[in-house]
Order: sequence, then C-alpha cells, then structure tokens
Amino acid sequence: MRCLVVILILGLLSPQLARADDRLVRLHAPQALIDTGLLRHILPRFKLKTQVRVEPVGAGDSADMVLGPEGRALFEGAGAIWHMDVRRPDHPGTKRFADWLTSEVGKNTVLSFAPEGVALFAPPPVQQVVVAEVEMDGDAELGREVSHTKCARCHLTERGRGQWDIGSTPSFFVLRAMADWESRFSAFYALRPHGAFTQITDVTEPFPEDRPSPIVPIELTLDEVEAVLAYVAGIKAADLGQPIEHQ
Ligand code: HEC
Repeated sequence: MRCLVVILILGLLSPQLARADDRLVRLHAPQALIDTGLLRHILPRFKLKTQVRVEPVGAGDSADMVLGPEGRALFEGAGAIWHMDVRRPDHPGTKRFADWLTSEVGKNTVLSFAPEGVALFAPPPVQQVVVAEVEMDGDAELGREVSHTKCARCHLTERGRGQWDIGSTPSFFVLRAMADWESRFSAFYALRPHGAFTQITDVTEPFPEDRPSPIVPIELTLDEVEAVLAYVAGIKAADLGQPIEHQ
C-alpha cells in the first residue's frame, strides 16, 4: 500500500521534475572567466527574462554547456576568445541560453558589462580564420567535378566547359600561375569573398546569425578541398604574359 502511494506521488511529481530540469542549465566556465564577474552580470538577467537558471559547475561535472576554446565564438576579452560548446543541444533550457547568448539582447548584455566603467568584452574577431591542414593526395577527378559544380558559377575552372559568368573573377588557370597558388587554394574558404558563403564541414564556424550567407551557401568537405587542390595541381597554368586568359 505504502509502495503504491510512493509510486503515485512520484508519478504526480515527475512531470514537474522534468520541467524543473528543463529550466536548469549546468554551465562550465574556466576560473579566468568567472573571476571577471561576467557570469554574475549576465546570468540573473537571463533568468529574469526566461525563468531559466544557469548554475556554474566544475570541470568534472557533466555540463550542458562549456564556455572555452571550442564551439561558436561569442566574445573576446580577459585574454581569450570565448566560445560556447553546447553539449546538450536538445535540452530546452540550454537551447534557450544558447539562443540568448547569440541574440542581440544577449550580446549587448555581455558587451555592456563594464565593472570599473570599462567594457571588458568585445565581439569576437569578425572572421576567425580557421585553416585546416590540407594534404596533397586528393582525388583530381573528383576535384574537377567539385570545381565545376561548386566554383564554376564564378570561376572558369575548366577549359571549354561551363560558362564564364563573372569576367572579373580570376580563372583557375590564372590562379594556378601564381607562385602561392597552393596556399590560396588550401585556404580559399577563409579568403575574400568566400568566407561569407562557404562552409567546410567541421572546419568553419556557422555563419553569424546576423550575417547569413548572401547566396546559396557552398559546402565542401575537407576531402573535396583536397580534391580541388589535386585537380588544380594538374591543370596547365595560364601564361600570365598573355593577360587575355583572365580578361
Ligand atoms: C560567388 C562567386 C565565387 C564562388 C562560387 C567561388 N569563388 Fe573563388 N573567388 C571569387 C572572387 C570574386 C575572387 C577574387 C577575389 C579577389 O580578387 O579579391 C575569388 C578568388 C579565389 C581564389 C584566390 C583567392 C586569393 O585571395 O588569392 C581562390 C583560390 C578561389 N577563389 C577558389 C575558389 C574555389 C576552390 C571555389 C569553389 C569551391 C570558389 N573559389 C568559388 C568568387 C567566387
């Protein structure tokens, strides 16, 4: 009988318990960030707005979110660029907190933190240039196709194939003629203008919410970047003594 009562009570409580957990976010932040007082500044404001409580936890705990060197860049200050690593993206409270941190209101709350009248935090550098190591053993045939489908909209990638829409964009043959073509192609996605519309799986940061890609984004895997390199390695460079190739 007593057992039944306990089960009944638990049954009544569990939806409440579940909801209580939805409204509690376990956040891990390094001591250097905690020492600035930023969390004491932003967490009560976030709670007031959303009724979601964020509780700082130590390194060993299973945090729902970690502020540190990994994930999406949020702000810079106290000697580092701080990123959020969302460990439980499907947890309602955590999602709420992540949305808030990247919203205008959340960003302004961080930037307005000025304990001695001096703002301690600034927006992260506009484009963090993450460049991965690219091997030169890619698949040239795949690279030819990738270049055609993903780059030929703007670049001439192959002689006699596709249309050459944007005359001011250097052809792959002109780029190939440059002494540092290899480093340009290894990191093209971090070079203008590609950063604004190119995503490399597991390498680039997502586009900032307030600056979505202006065109249908171009997405490549690192293997595809390597394949493009292998393809470009094998094409005949334009003779830059004959500028007609480009113009
Ligand atoms: C929407 C147009 C567009 C697309 C698509 C595009 N590019 Fe470009 N790319 C450009 C323009 C414009 C430049 C010249 C930028 C400049 O001169 O500042 C350029 C320059 C480059 C450069 C030289 C960069 C430098 O700064 O030296 C490389 C390498 C390059 N593109 C590779 C690629 C590859 C590889 C792809 C396909 C995966 C691609 N691009 C897709 C527009 C584009």
